[in-house]
Amino acid sequence: MTERTLILVKPDGVRRGLSGEVLRRVEAKGYALVAVELRTATPELLAEHYAEHLGKPFYDPLVEFMLSGPVLAAVAEGERVIEGFRSLSGATDPTTAAPGTIRGDLARAWDAPVIHNIVHGSDSVASAEREIGLWFPGL
Ligand code: RTP
Ligand code: MG
Repeated sequence: MTERTLILVKPDGVRRGLSGEVLRRVEAKGYALVAVELRTATPELLAEHYAEHLGKPFYDPLVEFMLSGPVLAAVAEGERVIEGFRSLSGATDPTTAAPGTIRGDLARAWDAPVIHNIVHGSDSVASAEREIGLWFPGL
């Protein structure tokens, strides 16, 4: 089924100049980019985006991290792209993320209270629709 997913290159990825590398991998896999925009998140947007994590120990540092610099927000489209981009990203923890994945190849553990893992990808059709609506209300 053709789907859309929300991709974020997080501030660590943008700072390290990896936005192009992430988009390259998405396109090389065969997904189409529908929207790409460099954005600065706001506390209000992140409160909605990360609502499921409210109350977890990493919530406050996660929001602070996501506000620490610009993010590249993108929407990609393709057959099973939600699952496919999660597969391209690899496991949440970059130390154990498989080599060949974005996190496995490009990230490592940092001495920080939140995992710096370069990318976000929607995890279900419902999340993707919700997140795309938040980041690209006009799409
Ligand atoms: P994402 O939402 O960014 O695509 O990543 P994910 O599904 O693999 O991970 P999730 O559980 O949704 O967590 C969201 C983001 O919060 C940070 N995190 N830090 N310190 C910690 O234990 C911890 N746990 C999660 C990561 O940046 C993670 O991607
Ligand atoms: Mg998640």
